[in-house]
Amino acid sequence: MAERDGARHLARLMARGCDFLGSDCAIMGGAMTWVSERTLVSAISNAGGFGVLACGAMEPGRLGEEIRATRARTARPFGVNLIVMHPRLDELVETVIAESVSHVVLAGGLPPARALSRLRDAGAKVLAFAPTVAIARKLVRAGVHALIVEGTEAGGHIGPVATQVLAQEILPALAEVVPVFVAGGIGHGAMIAAYLEMGAAGVQLGTRFVCARESIAHPDFKRAFIRAAARDAVASVQLDPRFPVIPVRALKNRASETFMRFQAETIDRVARGELTEEQGRLAIEHYWAGALRRAVIDGDVENGSLMAGQSVGMVRREQDAATIIAELLDEAARHLERTEPACPA
Ligand SMILES: Cc1cc2nc3c(=O)[nH]c(=O)nc-3n(C[C@H](O)[C@H](O)[C@H](O)COP(=O)(O)O)c2cc1C
Repeated sequence: MAERDGARHLARLMARGCDFLGSDCAIMGGAMTWVSERTLVSAISNAGGFGVLACGAMEPGRLGEEIRATRARTARPFGVNLIVMHPRLDELVETVIAESVSHVVLAGGLPPARALSRLRDAGAKVLAFAPTVAIARKLVRAGVHALIVEGTEAGGHIGPVATQVLAQEILPALAEVVPVFVAGGIGHGAMIAAYLEMGAAGVQLGTRFVCARESIAHPDFKRAFIRAAARDAVASVQLDPRFPVIPVRALKNRASETFMRFQAETIDRVARGELTEEQGRLAIEHYWAGALRRAVIDGDVENGSLMAGQSVGMVRREQDAATIIAELLDEAARHLERTEPACPA
């Protein structure tokens, strides 16, 4: 009886997120470049979650093909993630509109007004990342339909503030205005329940889905995740403010250690006049070019980028996407059972 109460309570807490996403549960599989392609995205959506295709650096034609291939594998809703710095963003926006994509996640910076209004006019639901409460309010005023609040624990490109702090700042301020999805550092269902109780409409997880059986990530990439502990997922460090490094959380490996040395050597070469400051900046910026593909697809786990969040410590084995989602829902329901008095029938 108590178990059913937990599940019922969870369903109530997720209702708004499910309504917005059109899915059975309000768990989004966050887009991961090279990982979130047709197979994983359709598996997450077929399992009742909400898969999000990663566009990454894809060209518009390739994205259209991937959307169609995903749709061939699932009749359930899924989203598409576009990086706003993509040089062909306008064409990508036209592609998702032409393919009648229902939900678009705009990532990598503030969404340009033109892209946002074009998507809204075409009837797509737009989600954007809110790194601060001020930006969250600005995004809502600009017309985004929902927010994703992602903290520094997450895998991939990160901001400086913890999910827990952002959730406390943004949920009380905006959760009643638009659906807010919380991301970063979530590996257990109890955490999902806690954010839902704080007013989140749902959650987004990336790291937990990397080792889904349906994920095409190389077996060595998956093995690195299964072996890793939370403390192995570290943020990249910038040695000198003149040479910016975009913070990325990834598992420590040879590439991340060499990166520190490479920055120091490049800065020295600039000091000695062997490189201009601009050349030094570009060299540091290009260090990671192609590195995620090298690790995810080629399985070069020493020289590639092993983007992963701190929740990697909770990735213990390869599992079907459906099992991962079922486990998270079960943990969330059990947590609610323990913390809530039994509801009257
Ligand atoms: C390997 C990897 C690649 C990612 N690529 C993207 C991306 O292309 N676009 C994006 O918006 N987020 C990207 N993310 C972030 C995820 O979508 C998600 O928000 C994040 O993983 C949530 O935090 P978690 O890793 O703690 O679950 C990536 C994360 C990982 C681990």
